[in-house]
Order: sequence, then C-alpha cells, then structure tokens
Amino acid sequence: MTTRYRVEFPFVLHSQPTAVFEPHRQTTDQMAAIAHRRYAEIMRDVEELIIDHIAHQNAGTHDRSKLKLLVPSVGRFFTPLALHEAFLYQDSKRLISHRRFVPPSFNDIRLILNTAQAMSLTRSGPLELVTFDGDVTLYDDGESLSDENPVIPRIIALLQKGTKIGIVTAAGYVEARRYYERLRGLLDAVNASEALTSVLKQNLIVMGGEANYLFRFSEGDPDRLKLVPRQEWLLQEMLLWQDSDIAELLDVAEVALTECVANMRLDAQLLRKERAVGIIPNAGKKLAREQLEETVLVTQKILEMSSVGQRLPFCAFNGGNDVFVDIGDKSWGVRACQHFFGGIEGAKTLHVGDQFLSAGANDFKARLACTTAWIANPMETMQLLDEIAELDALVQRKNV
Ligand code: IMP
Ligand code: MG
Repeated sequence: MTTRYRVEFPFVLHSQPTAVFEPHRQTTDQMAAIAHRRYAEIMRDVEELIIDHIAHQNAGTHDRSKLKLLVPSVGRFFTPLALHEAFLYQDSKRLISHRRFVPPSFNDIRLILNTAQAMSLTRSGPLELVTFDGDVTLYDDGESLSDENPVIPRIIALLQKGTKIGIVTAAGYVEARRYYERLRGLLDAVNASEALTSVLKQNLIVMGGEANYLFRFSEGDPDRLKLVPRQEWLLQEMLLWQDSDIAELLDVAEVALTECVANMRLDAQLLRKERAVGIIPNAGKKLAREQLEETVLVTQKILEMSSVGQRLPFCAFNGGNDVFVDIGDKSWGVRACQHFFGGIEGAKTLHVGDQFLSAGANDFKARLACTTAWIANPMETMQLLDEIAELDALVQRKNV
C-alpha cells in the first residue's frame, strides 16, 4: 500500500512534529495521551455518523443523512461499526498516537475499519458466512494454497463452529481439478479433518469466475469438489442472462482488449474463455501498473457504452499482472453463495478481499452484498481471523 492513499486531514492538526526539537514541553507519553484522546473522539464521531446513516437507511431517507452529504459516494451499511473501540484496540497494537510526524495513515484506518467490522459482526453474531477472495487474500498473487498455509486451521475452526465458507475468486475454470490444484492444501486438510463431520465439510464451497461456477466440497472425491448445476444456485435475475448476450459482451470486450494490446504495444496475449476474456503477459513479461489500469478503464468505458453492457453485469479488473473481463461480479457471486445456503443476510456475511479501490478492483462489488474486510496480504487475513476468534470467545464467555 502506498502513500497515495493517505487520509490524514482530520488528524494532521493533532500531530506534534515540533516536539522533536522542543523536548521539554511535554513528554512523549503526555503527547501520545492527548493524540489518543483526540483520535478516539474523531472515531466516536464517525461511528455516530454511521449509526445516523443506518437510521436514515431504515427510514428510506439514506440520501439525506449527514454522512451522505459529507461523503456522497458512501454506500449502504449492513451493521454499525464499533470504530471507537476498534481504534483503542489498534492503537494498543500499532501505537498510532505515539507517532509525532506521521498521522493516522490509510493502512491504520483500513485496519481499524476491519476490526470495527469484526467487533460488530461477532457481537450481533453468529457470523453465518465468510467469503474469501483467492489471490493475495489466501495466498500470494498467482500462487496456490499449499499444505503449510497457516490460514487452513483457521478456516477449519470457522467450519467447526458452523460458519459457512465460500471462496469467491475471479479465477474461472470449468473443471473441479483446476480448483483442486490451486486450493489443494485447504481441500486436503478439510477432507482429512476428524474435527469436522461430513455435514460440516459440505459447508465449504468455491465460487469461480466471480459468479459463474459453483463447486461444493465432496468428501472422498479425488478432486475434493463437485460442480453444482447452475439451476441449483442461480439467482432469479441471473436466469435472465442470455447466452447470446454473454457472447456479445465478451466479443465487445475482446475487441477493446485487442486494441489496447496494439495501441500500447503490450507484450501480452488474449485469452478467451466461456465466461471471461482477458489479456495475460507473454511468458516471463511483466505489465506496468499504468498499462493495466489504462486497459481496464478503456475496456470498462467501451463496455458501459455498449447496449449489451447495459443489459448484463460484468466486471473489468486489474489482476496485478493481467486484465480480465468476467460476466457478473462478486456482488452476484456472494449473493449466490448466500442464496445457496438458504438465504443468509448481508449483515451475517463477511467478504474478505484485497481489491477494494473502486476503479478496476473486483472485491469492491462484494460491498453491495455484505460487510467486508479489506486486507493487504495473506498475513493480514490470518490476523483478522484470529481477531474474530478472540472476539467470538469473549462473546461466548459473556453469554455463559
Ligand atoms: P482472485 O484474486 O481470487 O479474484 O483471482 C484473480 C486472478 O485470477 C486474476 O488476476 C487472474 O490472474 C486469475 N484468473 C484466472 N482465470 C480468470 C478468469 O476467468 N477471470 C478472471 N481472472 C482469472
Ligand atoms: Mg485478490
């Protein structure tokens, strides 16, 4: 994460850079205590703005909330956010208020929001469904989920509690075998687990190609997964997606992508699939961030302006070293998982992903379907799951 995303404005007044050359005025601890109090107040204010926004949502007047006036792009909240308490927690770990030059950063705020979301979800629990993105969230970009990945016991612990798990990835393959190759560590561990009953094991599903292929865990199967026929999980609205429109949208996207490759002299090739089209770099080559972003924006604009792009949802995104256009997006993918498990609500669902910048990022759309946590690497996913487990244990102890 770079400094491009700093969110320092409300906080910069409270930083104390001059303290470095005026050492006698206040001790570092005193300064930290003052900064702590002020940052905590700001968090409390935002928490209350969100509570007010939810009250407006419930009354059907969300467009008139104070938060909406301050942040016109703000979306729907599925739960309140315990921002004040989450700040206390993250400040105790990251010592945010002890810094004199660097005010709370984008990453500090992102992690406070994740903690706040985890707190709200566990307190109004149980958390019924957790969906995970694949690349960068569960394993490094382009890698696979191997046996030693420390996220495995944490996902198994969630399954043991009865939480449903969906892996909602853009990676789009028709065959179970390809997902088995990428997720082998987790699938083998679930298969071998003696802590999980056969029924609980079936609470693990994989949604591939954003919202295109659903697989359910299948004990004893050599690929550990079974394709679920579309009629068993498609949402009503998805039944209206016509094959002819799908082909037409992918044709338009293919032309746009091909033009980008030619215009920017990209060392890349086109890859057309049944439900997606993309460009991937030629062997050993790396595409620059600017080239990837330009390709996404050009393709997205052309699709938005096409008539088929108005009829059919799609997702154009920058995958780090490739660009893909998929039919549907992760809001459809997560909603289909909720539907498949009998209608789980957005307020009982958490999607964990790394791509939440609104332009050219595919996890962003999941925000329409449920609560979200924005992580920057697989280590943060693990820390988040540990936080959820700790918070949940606290709630359980209180209820005894
Ligand atoms: P995610 O982070 O799990 O959503 O996976 C995104 C990555 O999957 C992309 O960056 C691509 O490298 C890869 N991928 C493989 N097949 C597809 C596809 O059909 N559509 C989109 N991405 C794909
Ligand atoms: Mg990802």
